[in-house]
Amino acid sequence: MSDESTSMNADERITVRNLLHGEGSPFELAEDARSGLASTPKTLPPKYLYDASGSDLFERITEQPEYYQTLTELEILRRIAPLIVDRVRPTALVEFGSGSASKTRVLLDEMRRAGRLEGYGMLDVSESASRAAAAALIQAYPRLEVECVIADFEQPQPLPFPGKRRLLAFLGSTIGNFEVEGAQAFLRGPAERMHDDDAFLIGFDLVKDIAVLERAYNDAAGVTEAFNKNLLSVLNRELGADFNPGGFDHLAFYNEAEARIEMHLVANRPQHVTVIDLDMIVEFAAGESLRTELSHKYTRRSVEALLEAGGLALDLWETDPNGKFALGLARRR
Ligand SMILES: C[S@@+](CC[C@H](N)C(=O)[O-])C[C@H]1O[C@@H](n2cnc3c(N)ncnc32)[C@H](O)[C@@H]1O
Repeated sequence: MSDESTSMNADERITVRNLLHGEGSPFELAEDARSGLASTPKTLPPKYLYDASGSDLFERITEQPEYYQTLTELEILRRIAPLIVDRVRPTALVEFGSGSASKTRVLLDEMRRAGRLEGYGMLDVSESASRAAAAALIQAYPRLEVECVIADFEQPQPLPFPGKRRLLAFLGSTIGNFEVEGAQAFLRGPAERMHDDDAFLIGFDLVKDIAVLERAYNDAAGVTEAFNKNLLSVLNRELGADFNPGGFDHLAFYNEAEARIEMHLVANRPQHVTVIDLDMIVEFAAGESLRTELSHKYTRRSVEALLEAGGLALDLWETDPNGKFALGLARRR
């Protein structure tokens, strides 16, 4: 049985397809929580961080002075958008993990300047963020057609606008949230569905000074901490759990051997948590952690290897002058 629901917004330029809800949905918090909370170490996939509050908190993270990623990527995007649009000549932009789609506007503006802007496809788990972004975009781009797909990008989906020449985008170094094999598997989805003329623009946060990396995930205002702890509210609300956020501390550190930031919630005392919907009691020893997010950091060489394993090849590589962040343009191999 298909659980897909499609609705045409009041403004007929937005189409929303929700592939998440209903029987057979791949986006199953209950299953993931059952296995993740019973495993050693305890883990949950980062996609559950992005309910409506989590999406808002992520936007606030991007405004923190320690979080260099957003402004640095934006600066590179502004510099190379004309080159990319000239090289790919897309009429549609299709973005994975689009969120508020604010950086996206640099690409949409350039496509419009080139007289080529027709469609924008956005794929994200966050319905609230996607609907808000789509509504703002049709105001800003009066002839733009927006296809909004609420889905888990780990499940290969048909790509919007198959009849158009497409620039795919995956910004914010969200690709770093996958395990290495997961990132390869993710890339194979679009790689198999892209046409030869399509191209894929991907943001990569680069390996750098550990203090700079760790500061970005431990902002002084505590917004990343709130984002991390919001996961406990998601579990309490969605699964009838009784996590006490005060019983857990935010921990984010760089794991040099794996070239990744790891984000955890660490129990600051022994406790047991009841998860009514799962009929489960979860024991935490003092100091035991629940891993909530990975954020891999890259070099040009590791990106080339990742793309190759994902069925893609690097066509263009641009970094900021300080080598903090990179945008890679990839084609099908
Ligand atoms: C790190 S944020 C990046 C947002 C934006 N692209 C940027 O660059 O600022 C990750 C985005 O991916 C979405 N996301 C995370 N996991 C996802 C999944 N498995 N499927 C679809 N969207 C996901 C989140 O809702 C969020 O909007």
